Amino acid sequence: MKRFEGKVGIVTGAGSGIGKATLIRFVREGGSGIAVDISQERLDQLVKELAAEGLQTKTIAGDLTFNSTIDAIVEMAGPKIDVLINNAGIMDEFVPLDELDDEMWDRVISVNLTSVMKLSRAVIRKMLVTGGGAIVTTSSGAAFKSGIAGTAYTSSKHGVNGLVKSISTIYGSRGIRSNAVAPGGTKTNIMDMSKPIKGATTLQALGANMANASRTAEPEEVAACILFLASDDASNVNGVIMASDSGWTAK
Ligand SMILES: NC(=O)c1ccc[n+]([C@@H]2O[C@H](COP(=O)([O-])OP(=O)(O)OC[C@H]3O[C@@H](n4cnc5c(N)ncnc54)[C@H](O)[C@@H]3O)[C@@H](O)[C@H]2O)c1
Repeated sequence: MKRFEGKVGIVTGAGSGIGKATLIRFVREGGSGIAVDISQERLDQLVKELAAEGLQTKTIAGDLTFNSTIDAIVEMAGPKIDVLINNAGIMDEFVPLDELDDEMWDRVISVNLTSVMKLSRAVIRKMLVTGGGAIVTTSSGAAFKSGIAGTAYTSSKHGVNGLVKSISTIYGSRGIRSNAVAPGGTKTNIMDMSKPIKGATTLQALGANMANASRTAEPEEVAACILFLASDDASNVNGVIMASDSGWTAK
């Protein structure tokens, strides 16, 4: 399949996990990719892996919470952006509210929600000129219920769903589709399992729900959903939060 031939697409958090799987498949399917990540080392590795297949991507190493990174991305992308995948995100170590400091709250909201708003805003301004495009944001099962993460992460992903739906309603008639994929547990680097998780209180409270979790998915399985929504196959899909979690949300 070459669903993205001739299309320019930005993928954030492309250095690892779900974003990396998404960027690789986007490029394999003919797309011209812009891979964004805070880690230069991970981007270098991505470029190496693509080169081994005779493929390439442009890269931007930067922190999405800086306006300068947002500006650099849209400048590199040029006048026509067909696809934006807002995927970069961080966890909150399951910290409960009474132990949450401002720094953790600000960082999680800033990476998971505010930077998604800022990059979407910058890209939409270009899409409005060129006639539209597709935006897909990686949400989470934690956007539907409270039993998956700590307070900051849960709040950020609930906000993401609102942002995604608001964009779909306001810009749908002008050719911009906005959807999200909400993964359940997925094999990535989002949690450093070598470090102790801080939120013992939260984990205890989440016990039954976590025990109820479905299998842990491969990042490629989530990427497949993201790219379906980004492709013309989903031309009639707008404002949807699609779970990719083996049915965990439905339980
Ligand atoms: N893995 C899961 O179980 C799971 C479940 C639900 C939702 N998600 C969501 O999936 C998305 C992707 O996460 P993942 O699991 O692939 O994690 P990951 O840690 O493997 O990949 C995320 C990438 O984003 C990058 N990143 C983090 N902060 C950044 C910033 N400020 N600027 C630029 N890049 C930054 C990281 O360097 C990393 O390479 C996130 O939005 C996450 O919330 C993951």
